Amino acid sequence: MKTGLETLILPAGDAAARAAARTLAAGGLVAFATETVYGLGADAANATAIAHLYAAKGRPAFNPLIAHVADITAAQAIGRFDARALKLAEAFWPGPLTLVVPKTDGCPVADLATAGLDTVAIRIPAHPVAQAILRAFGGAVVAPSANISGHVSPTLAAHVESDLSGRIDLIVDGGPVAVGVESTIVGCLNAPMLLRPGGLSRERIEAVLGAALARPPAEAGSDDSQPLAPGMLASHYAPRANVRLNAREVAPGEALLAFGPSRLPGLDAAAAVMNLSPTADLDEAAANLFGYLRALDAKGPRAIAVMTIPEDDLGEAINDRLRRAAVAR
Ligand code: TXA
Ligand code: MG
Repeated sequence: MKTGLETLILPAGDAAARAAARTLAAGGLVAFATETVYGLGADAANATAIAHLYAAKGRPAFNPLIAHVADITAAQAIGRFDARALKLAEAFWPGPLTLVVPKTDGCPVADLATAGLDTVAIRIPAHPVAQAILRAFGGAVVAPSANISGHVSPTLAAHVESDLSGRIDLIVDGGPVAVGVESTIVGCLNAPMLLRPGGLSRERIEAVLGAALARPPAEAGSDDSQPLAPGMLASHYAPRANVRLNAREVAPGEALLAFGPSRLPGLDAAAAVMNLSPTADLDEAAANLFGYLRALDAKGPRAIAVMTIPEDDLGEAINDRLRRAAVAR
């Protein structure tokens, strides 16, 4: 474990992009803003840097990483895109979509980053800070969310700092992220399959495909030893406090994560209350989700009670993260 590092924090801009590229080229670890969540980047071709990345996060090495690139040409040097994968790439990149495709022969991504699989997860982020760093660096950058493994993902540079300060070289502060949940992951091996709901809704993907996304086998993800997207461990995104879903009332000393305009019984005795979206806007709720979980957790409540959130659009990703946060540990 590399600890006791001096973690530099730079505001986004040309100087920060150049510093990030230099640090990545030297095998260092750089956290940076993407439109989904902050990522922790390492040179995708540098196995030593990737080993440091796993250690800095405390992440199990069987959980592979997403390779981030600046454009489709760079993506096709890493992975093989069939017609449907290309259609999704052209419709949604740059953006909050990750595609899992077969590796190319001579794929430059280190085996450690793909956990020895013959497939690779690829994303072209839209955020200008991520784009500037990828272009300045020139190669692929593997980047998991920039949090300690199992914690709530970071949507502000300050979240990265509180989890990883002293363990990484640089944080490029690009302000609050816009989407707030991680990218949607679609496996493009046979029929396109939804491996992780995320910042691009199932509905939008299915509209482009003209077909329903395949569903992972029902047991996948419920068994930590054989998860389908290997990172989809049952307990994840976990605050310290227990999380209680579908709350219809607030118990004394609980914090409430509210959604929509209705008021629950017991509200006045709550330890704290935050509303993901008073107008029940799911995009707004996704953007606020991880930050509000961190903020409520910081109050040290008995538990965090969460109101029911609909399953449509980004609600599918929000509920996925909340269910994992609620798994008993
Ligand atoms: O929005 C995002 O996707 C963020 C930003 C930083 O880009 N990144 C992110 O990375 O969420 P991470 O490491 O937290 O999640 C990557 C997920 C894991 O569930 C991992 O198991 C899965 O992608 N994955 C990576 N390679 C895979 C592969 N070849 N096959 C199936 N799943 C894969
Ligand atoms: Mg993560």
